[in-house]
Amino acid sequence: MKISIFGTGYVGLVTGASLASLGHEVLCVDVDEAKIMMLNEGKMPFFEPGLQELVELNRSKRRLQFTTHIEEGVRFGEVVFNCVGTPENEDGSCDLTYVFSVAEMVGRYATGYKVLINKSTVPPGTANRCMELIRSLNSGVVIDVVSNPEFLKQGNAVYDFNHPDKIVVGAKTSEAFHMLQKVYHGLLKMYMPLLETDWETAEMIKYANNSFLAMKISFINEMANICDRVGADVTIVAKAIGMDSRIGPKFLNAGIGYGGSCFRKDVRALIDTARSTGYRAYLLEETERLNERQKKMLVPQILEALRKVEGDTVTLWGLSFKPKTSDLRGASALVLMEELLCAGVGVKVYDPISVEDTRRLFGERVGLMYCTSLTDSVRESNVIVLVTEWDEFRNVNFAELGELMKTRILFDGRNIYDAQQVQEGGFTYYGLGRSSFGREENSFEEKNIGKKSLNKKVS
Ligand SMILES: NC(=O)c1ccc[n+]([C@@H]2O[C@H](COP(=O)([O-])OP(=O)(O)OC[C@H]3O[C@@H](n4cnc5c(N)ncnc54)[C@H](O)[C@@H]3O)[C@@H](O)[C@H]2O)c1
Repeated sequence: MKISIFGTGYVGLVTGASLASLGHEVLCVDVDEAKIMMLNEGKMPFFEPGLQELVELNRSKRRLQFTTHIEEGVRFGEVVFNCVGTPENEDGSCDLTYVFSVAEMVGRYATGYKVLINKSTVPPGTANRCMELIRSLNSGVVIDVVSNPEFLKQGNAVYDFNHPDKIVVGAKTSEAFHMLQKVYHGLLKMYMPLLETDWETAEMIKYANNSFLAMKISFINEMANICDRVGADVTIVAKAIGMDSRIGPKFLNAGIGYGGSCFRKDVRALIDTARSTGYRAYLLEETERLNERQKKMLVPQILEALRKVEGDTVTLWGLSFKPKTSDLRGASALVLMEELLCAGVGVKVYDPISVEDTRRLFGERVGLMYCTSLTDSVRESNVIVLVTEWDEFRNVNFAELGELMKTRILFDGRNIYDAQQVQEGGFTYYGLGRSSFGREENSFEEKNIGKKSLNKKVS
């Protein structure tokens, strides 16, 4: 089958390379010339495990090609995937400019029957609006629009695309459903997790999916904050409630907030969608508000710890929003960096992949030092904050690292360490929701978060 993919970002490139592996002929289209040039030279525009190999293999077999030529892109595929970005507008609503631009191109250049498949995350009603747009431009040609949201996780995207929990297809005609079965034939033979429904339900499923996951994280973070104040251990609470089959164990790891390009914008877009119908989505509003607060939750405690020691340098481990991706969008580390720098703290940052991307984004700042190795990052530092739980940070020798530091304090922003082991390395350990900071010291007023200045000069 001939397939066109518009947008070669995390979703489009994984979709294109994976569908090519299933034997389809795939043409990927992007308006970003630099990105397409890189891909045509065999270089990757971002890091995603296993993707480079998949792209190389399918390029060498000539099943995967890249172009910036829009008209050629529309004409090529029997189906056209819309995988462009759907960022957040300032008011939280979903910016559909790129999605409609692709629909418009399909309307302008399609000559025979085609299926436009919206894989981008879009508010309910978008497939209908795409259909109307296409009809207004091209009443002579038959085009079906399908909603086929994507559920892959960055860092595990190739595996997820090829082993989906479900494939959701929202369509209006049996022909469109049939075309989607042909697209996913290779996967369906293995798994059959196909769920066929209407446009609006398919679009809503994606928002409900992400909103639930975001809410589950904000819930356990709220529990952690309460645990800290009542002397309980959230890791054990999470383990226990996760054993309840109605709850399940996943997404119950307390930490310093979720990042990434999706949860925040999707929760906000759903809040906006609800608002546009006259409904106020309180639960979703709180989910987001709690997460924004959570990203700064450790700041007063870090500043308090620094007040008690000689020196004012903090090391942040992990910059990308989660392990195994170079993506910095919405990353908690960036919020922490900003808060600590504003408070006059010296910040050393290290990440296995994303240091240079962070430098490009943040630039050179007084008090900020980009580090090229884990050891370099802790030298002469007072405090380590584990922000993103890359594997490299899991098995460190704290006793050895501590030798390089001015003082040995660790804030475990993802609760990955055994407190006792860290303490055996001579460190003072603070987790989230593990009561380790003591009730009194922990009673910071919310209004003070991020506003306390150390009043120390940074050289
Ligand atoms: N990233 C994820 O983990 C993930 C997971 C599931 C769903 N989604 C959704 O998938 C969509 C894409 O996300 P992403 O992370 O891949 O985005 P991205 O920003 O990485 O990539 C989007 C790409 O679309 C290109 N583009 C913009 N306008 C175009 C046009 N008119 N024609 C061709 N290309 C165009 C951009 O240049 C860019 O390369 C979003 O709606 C997102 O919410 C993302």
